[in-house]
Amino acid sequence: MSRTIKMALIGCGGMGRSHLRSAREVPELEFVCYADAVEGTAASACHEFGGRYHTTDVEAIMRDDDVEAVLIATHHDSHPPLATRAAQAGKQIFLEKPMALTIEDCLKIEEAVDKAGVKLMMGFKFRFAPLVASVKQMVPHPLVTVGQSLHSAMKGWPLTPERGGGPVLSNGCHAFDLVYWLNESEPVLISAAGGPLTHPEHGLVDNAAVSVQFENGSIAAIIAGDSGDARYTSKFFFEVLDGRRTATLYERCHKAQLSGCEVDSLSVEELPPPLSTDPEGTRAELQAWARCLLEDTESPVGPRDGTRATAMVLKAFEAIRSGRTQELRL
Ligand SMILES: NC(=O)c1ccc[n+]([C@@H]2O[C@H](COP(=O)([O-])OP(=O)(O)OC[C@H]3O[C@@H](n4cnc5c(N)ncnc54)[C@H](O)[C@@H]3O)[C@@H](O)[C@H]2O)c1
Repeated sequence: MSRTIKMALIGCGGMGRSHLRSAREVPELEFVCYADAVEGTAASACHEFGGRYHTTDVEAIMRDDDVEAVLIATHHDSHPPLATRAAQAGKQIFLEKPMALTIEDCLKIEEAVDKAGVKLMMGFKFRFAPLVASVKQMVPHPLVTVGQSLHSAMKGWPLTPERGGGPVLSNGCHAFDLVYWLNESEPVLISAAGGPLTHPEHGLVDNAAVSVQFENGSIAAIIAGDSGDARYTSKFFFEVLDGRRTATLYERCHKAQLSGCEVDSLSVEELPPPLSTDPEGTRAELQAWARCLLEDTESPVGPRDGTRATAMVLKAFEAIRSGRTQELRL
């Protein structure tokens, strides 16, 4: 067996633990220590998943030469200081989305990673969802893309401007990234409507209808926010159309309907394992991360992908504020 990568988890809350469960099936990754601002949270992760130690002091991890890579799954305001510090400490970095709350902070992370010569992978798991891969293969050059990421009754820190950035950035960034990924052309013009509709107490745009023009001339419409239970289309819904073929991903990309393609419908449950047991790509993204470290290849979802997704959301906010279409050139 090839060597294992010794990892530290920073941020042992809901998503951190989800990664730990997925990593149980990725033997190349070994979590050896755990950090969280809340000691009990780090301790219980260490106890349940095994490791050498837990800590509330992230510097202990940065100084630990046994730790090759960190997985950062903390509140969004802490992504820039943690990611830049990890880069300075020479750690490889898996960073949960969104990369940061501002474009400037995203670019600072890019710079730190570049300077340190380490790899950074963004946690845009839907790129690794099996049916997204099938749809991308069957409709490789969409002319029109529709994306939806609608949360339901979001609570707590993700809603706040200081720590989370609101539902459009917190959760909607998945849709912005996937719409880019399905097109693989840079977004150049962004216009939008929206406002603080469901959580006015935070004063942030919490629901947005966004139009995107890509460099290659294709277009997309994205609905993102937190506005109720999107039961039939689901929180994550995407449609790609190329003039001949249409593919619709629904039920969180667990199902697809197609027309003009080799098949009329797909369901992740009908795929053979291991695909059927990883409908949203949570395990596959960690496998891709391990592979890129072991084979020393480029990060499959790199820093520029993180910057682009945050920039698309923030340009949409600016379009709403100013009432003008925004140019995006990264
Ligand atoms: N990819 C996905 O599908 C997905 C789903 C949910 C959340 N996320 C992302 O995962 C990250 C964490 O979200 P969550 O839902 O697990 O939140 P959470 O509140 O459940 O957990 C965050 C943890 O980070 C800790 N923390 C915060 N700041 C810290 C710091 N500076 N140092 C150390 N620990 C710190 C908190 O104490 C908490 O235990 C966010 O970036 C979020 O957007 C991704």
